[in-house]
Amino acid sequence: MEEEQIERGTKSLVFAVNGQRFELSSVDPSMTLLEFLRTQTPFTSVKLGCGEGGCGACIVLLSKYDPVIDHVEDLTVSSCLTLLCSVNGCAITTTEGLGNSKDGFHSIHQRFAGFHSSQCGFCTPGMCISLFGALVNAEKTDRPKPSPGFSKLTVVEAEKAIAGNLCRCTGYRSIADACKSFAADVDLEDLGLNCFWKKGENPDVKVSRLPSYDHNNEICTFPEFLKCEVKSSFLLDSQKSSWYNPVSVKQLQSLLKAIKGNNGARIKLVAGNTGMGYYKDLQQYDKYINLCHVPELSIIGKDRTGIEIGATVTISKAIKALKTETNGEILSESEMVFKKIAVQMEKIASQFVRNTGSVGGNLMMAQRKCFPSDIATILLAAGSFVNIITDTMHEKLSLEDFLERPPLDSEIILTSVKIPKWEPIKNESSEKDCKILFETYRAAPRPLGNALPYLNAAFLAEVCRWKSSGEIALNKCVLAFGAYGTKHSIRARKVEEFLTGKKLTLDVLYESIKLVGASVVPEDGTTSSVYRSSLAVGFLFDFLGPLIDNVAKISNHWLDNHGSATISTVDEDKQNYEQPDHAKVPTLLSLSKHVFEVTKEYQPVGEPVKKSGAALQASGEAIFVDDIPSPMNCLYGAFIYSTKPFAKVKSIKFKSKSLPYGVSALISFKDIPKDGENIGSKSIFGPEPLFADEMTRYAGERIALVVADTQKHADVASNLVAVDYDMENLEPPILTVEEAVKRSSFFEVPPFFYPKQVGDVSKGMAEADHKILSAKMKLGSQYYFYMENQSALALPDEDNCLVVYSSSQCPEFSHCTIARCLGLPQHNVRVITRRVGGGFGGKALKSIPVATACALAAHTLQRPVRMYLNRKTDMIMAGGRHPMEITYSVGFKYSGKITALQLDILINAGISPDISPAMPHNMVGALKKYDWGALSFDIKVCKTNHSSKSAMRGPGETQASLIAEAVIEHVASTLSMDVDSVRSINLHTHDSLKMFYVSSGEALEYSLTSMWDKIAMSSSLNHRTEVVKEFNRNNVWQKRGISRVPVVHEVIVRPTPGKVGILSDGSVIVEVGGIELGQGLWTKVKQMAAFALSAIKCDGGVELLDKIRVIQSDTLSLIQGGFTSGSTTSESSCEAVRLSCKTLVERLTPLKERLQVQMGSVTWEMLISQAYLEALNLSANSFFVPDLNSMQYLNYGAAVSEVEVNLLTGETTFLRSDIIYDCGKSLNPAVDLGQIEGAFVQGIGFLMLEDYTTNSDGLVVADSTWSYKIPTIDTIPKQINVEIHNSGHHKNRVLSSKACGEPPLLLAASVYFAAQAAIKEAREQMFSWGCRDQPAFNFQVPAMMPIVKELCGLDCVERYLKWKIGSETSSELC
Ligand SMILES: Cc1cc2nc3c(=O)[nH]c(=O)nc-3n(C[C@H](O)[C@H](O)[C@H](O)COP(=O)(O)OP(=O)(O)OC[C@H]3O[C@@H](n4cnc5c(N)ncnc54)[C@H](O)[C@@H]3O)c2cc1C
Ligand code: FES
Ligand code: FES
Repeated sequence: MEEEQIERGTKSLVFAVNGQRFELSSVDPSMTLLEFLRTQTPFTSVKLGCGEGGCGACIVLLSKYDPVIDHVEDLTVSSCLTLLCSVNGCAITTTEGLGNSKDGFHSIHQRFAGFHSSQCGFCTPGMCISLFGALVNAEKTDRPKPSPGFSKLTVVEAEKAIAGNLCRCTGYRSIADACKSFAADVDLEDLGLNCFWKKGENPDVKVSRLPSYDHNNEICTFPEFLKCEVKSSFLLDSQKSSWYNPVSVKQLQSLLKAIKGNNGARIKLVAGNTGMGYYKDLQQYDKYINLCHVPELSIIGKDRTGIEIGATVTISKAIKALKTETNGEILSESEMVFKKIAVQMEKIASQFVRNTGSVGGNLMMAQRKCFPSDIATILLAAGSFVNIITDTMHEKLSLEDFLERPPLDSEIILTSVKIPKWEPIKNESSEKDCKILFETYRAAPRPLGNALPYLNAAFLAEVCRWKSSGEIALNKCVLAFGAYGTKHSIRARKVEEFLTGKKLTLDVLYESIKLVGASVVPEDGTTSSVYRSSLAVGFLFDFLGPLIDNVAKISNHWLDNHGSATISTVDEDKQNYEQPDHAKVPTLLSLSKHVFEVTKEYQPVGEPVKKSGAALQASGEAIFVDDIPSPMNCLYGAFIYSTKPFAKVKSIKFKSKSLPYGVSALISFKDIPKDGENIGSKSIFGPEPLFADEMTRYAGERIALVVADTQKHADVASNLVAVDYDMENLEPPILTVEEAVKRSSFFEVPPFFYPKQVGDVSKGMAEADHKILSAKMKLGSQYYFYMENQSALALPDEDNCLVVYSSSQCPEFSHCTIARCLGLPQHNVRVITRRVGGGFGGKALKSIPVATACALAAHTLQRPVRMYLNRKTDMIMAGGRHPMEITYSVGFKYSGKITALQLDILINAGISPDISPAMPHNMVGALKKYDWGALSFDIKVCKTNHSSKSAMRGPGETQASLIAEAVIEHVASTLSMDVDSVRSINLHTHDSLKMFYVSSGEALEYSLTSMWDKIAMSSSLNHRTEVVKEFNRNNVWQKRGISRVPVVHEVIVRPTPGKVGILSDGSVIVEVGGIELGQGLWTKVKQMAAFALSAIKCDGGVELLDKIRVIQSDTLSLIQGGFTSGSTTSESSCEAVRLSCKTLVERLTPLKERLQVQMGSVTWEMLISQAYLEALNLSANSFFVPDLNSMQYLNYGAAVSEVEVNLLTGETTFLRSDIIYDCGKSLNPAVDLGQIEGAFVQGIGFLMLEDYTTNSDGLVVADSTWSYKIPTIDTIPKQINVEIHNSGHHKNRVLSSKACGEPPLLLAASVYFAAQAAIKEAREQMFSWGCRDQPAFNFQVPAMMPIVKELCGLDCVERYLKWKIGSETSSELC
């Protein structure tokens, strides 16, 4: 059959987006839905966060209509992976389709705004659609009708709806609240702070205040016009678009045959195309064959022989089918196996990937490309078969044979997979009972999925128990393991053979476990390889352990509960424990408390006003740089970066002779105008070049910029460049701080920046009873992971001018750098920034080269040039937090009182100074949180051949605070003292505070000690400490720890400009130096403007707040904007605005008084209109310069966290965190609460989850959402209680408020040290098993699963069993 014969119907691609019809007659088959939506429609709400299916920023609702049964199927999908051609006949809904500011927001948008669920807003559209998808599908269920205002969604579903969506700002709790507010089973008391109801209002009133949701008035996801068209069938013109839609296996086979004969055309078989998220599709294909219209490939057949699942069946549909009960048609053993497979499949990726990713696609990735598949492992254990076809043959294979074959040719099709039935074992003798057991396992950084596992496993066993003796034997077993650094999932045959027919005893278990450890061995080069083997051991132990009486008690219902909460004896002594049993609570998060006081003095300042623009962010109308429509002739840039740390760049060429498709230019340092300078960014400490010149000095350095007609072409072309390096006769690069010391490679720290020592350390050491000398610690880096990658758009303007839109925390600095780079006077450049999709320091200096490179290209080519970095390039270039090595010596008394601390710190600053010379100052500010008696330090800022490290939220303070806590922990453990009391003993008194800080303030301002006591009370610290002890006594394989830490964090208030203008209708525009990054700066500024202008006291109760608009930052309109950083920009911007408003009030007051006399009553509008008539100047500029004596001040807080550690896997569960933080008189408690929670969760990321690794050349290899795991909703504390402490009047602070953007991040140390406490328990237990070689005290950050497991003992299972087997011979045990 010829290719053309497959065509039928309308030869166009027809689909709808938000009810609007689109018809395309020819399409690039490699174009994704995201690319189309963002470049060819006005809908910009779908954001590109990763392009890998790993972040959820691009989620849309895809609706398909089946005309035969008149049914619409609605699925959330990642538009970055969905190919446009595959949406033929479908309807797409983005968050714009739900509502907008003009026609009215949807209740989802309103509730996101009202629950303060949006900060930078970049993740918000994706979150809204994930929730919308869950709502639409819940409404289709036959659950009872919910009460008015609610949906059929459950709380658990609401939380899980956003499990695949990343948010870097909020910490998720507030987002979960917005989602849960729709759930039928929600208890409104469980929801956190919102602007709908007041505390104490009754539930009916609360419901009535929620923006209404009525399922019957919901958005129609599939427009009627498209339904009619679908009935008449249309298929895209395959010839034009190289996209084929065969509709039978026969057609598919003919097509393959035809293409095969076509000179080796490169074909891509497409099911859901989610594989592209992993493999990135760098290759170009000639033909695309969509398998999804082949009915034979989409069958689901369940009968007495088992279940057959067609290859294109999505994982979501497979889960549904596997879970569906069959009224006794299927044997109960099979039902059990199917259900457990389904439960494991629910941990694969995220809902929106499972909705399109197919079972067949997954298995083919495993077969052809060694993908670490979960499906392959579970189906292998279940004894599955697969069917494959080519153009001529059909073959049925066991899954094991299929996986073991060499990678199959690209034209071989997998048609289906069959999971066989499992029959109950016939109990032939009355002496024993026999059963089938099946369990699945997975150890991954995120419990709900959205993370590949370190190892997965599935075990099936036929076990019999002798009634008389209770002994258990294994008749047979299948033990499958995968994803551990092996080509494909395997069966551990040796272990299976060993166990088969054996009676289960401790000795047998021990032997089998040793065998597993030897069988499951990752290939060379696999990370954490010993850990992965130890997981295999742990899982087998978990599977078989409960079958042996000596190991753990087995429930009376023989084996019924197998696999649930095995091993531990959790049931015992639970009654004493006041915490909810998190293992049994199905929701991810439990009730969280928010305590704060609203200050009435300066209204509306002090009110928890909802964030300015939050609903716009939810509806997708908020414009980020990359959402600005491309001007005519626009070009796009992509960086080429070095992969060598120190080398000569001999040449940069495209691999092909001709320029790659769409490329216009390759811009390098040679293109910098002769009056300009090779400068890419600059701080007060020095510049960084825009591009490497003849030399590259670190891996990841910008070498050139490819400029092309689309972003995709630029990105593709940047991968087609060959850089020729020469390293001959060059010194080796400096890649470690030790090497930097050896070669004296340091950045100079200006003397005024170098902090002063405190007291006399030699004297302090002499007074000490104990000393710890030269203890060492190492800290790694952290990536910002702002959801919006670096972006800029540069437009050439008349007379050699340029306008540059930049996503930047410091447009003023971008402005200066661009002018210097191009050799232009500064008035030729204008930099505009409206909002930034998350910064955390990463959009400060690190945003400047992006804007400058666009400006240089635009200036050189005299065309608009824009750039949106892809996630990989962004991660490679970002720099991030400073890694460092610390050596400390500490002297202390028997009582735990520390008398002296001496530190040597080597900071790895990378190649350029950036802000690094300020690090000693920042670090020492936070280090002084305790009264060390005396403190001395030697901090070296090492210049190395790494990307320059930059400010990341709490730069230096985060590390220093952790170091201080590590010292305290070390002292406590040396003295065998309770660490909490060592902390308390060493907390500052106000007198010692004064000795350590010049900015200590008045005694009354020192709120830490009272908060320290308060948090102990509010978190029931003492009681819970006892309960944790009890828990640890009663549990072998889970241990808990609890920890309280304080924070003292110094901030500096910087000069900031402000400008306020009143327009003739009375509306007000405000400009400030600070940039809105999600931290709520605009909201606070609006509140301040409303407060300050209200001093004019007009009549008529005008709501000034609604009249105020904060507008984008424009460096020519408001100069001296400075940096938005250091937590204080909101308050200083507010103060600048207050000063401007004061001027305006002064100007208007005489007029107001005159009018008052004349008219008796004056409204705001009247006053302003008269002011216009009388030519009053209604625009006022100000520049707030803080008083030298009060520009530095201290912030305080404390937190208590409780963590559980799983000794078999190293998994940590954050059970509860209580935070108390002093915001002074909070300018906006809702905003501050969001900052506290968001910072805290980001801190958890740094300390527990995020590993920003590089290769030996320093090139970042954690360069994707696959390898870098920020916290998700399933990895935050299950309960976060936050109290905003109001420490009252502070005369030097802006309306008595205090900063909160960064300091709460440091409190995440409580989570880290709670985990450490749990680990210590595990080690002590190991010691009790007779193991004398307890490894030394060791801090490692981040404490990811492999590290935690290592600290708990990679061989803890073996040790335990050995101890159990022969406790008498303990001397030989370890
Ligand atoms: C963010 C993310 C997280 C993930 N996490 C996990 C995880 O934790 N565990 C896990 O197991 N998997 C995970 N996956 C993998 C996911 O399950 C697969 O991407 C998906 O199942 C592939 O199905 P697809 O229909 O999209 O395949 P496609 O992407 O369309 O195809 C994948 C490959 O298989 C070929 N192919 C597809 N169908 C057939 C067929 N019938 N016959 C022959 N060749 C075929 C294609 O040509 C292509 O080469 C994750 C994926 C993503 C994007
Ligand atoms: S951009 Fe699609 S999931 Fe991240
Ligand atoms: S609000 Fe979620 S990423 Fe910023």
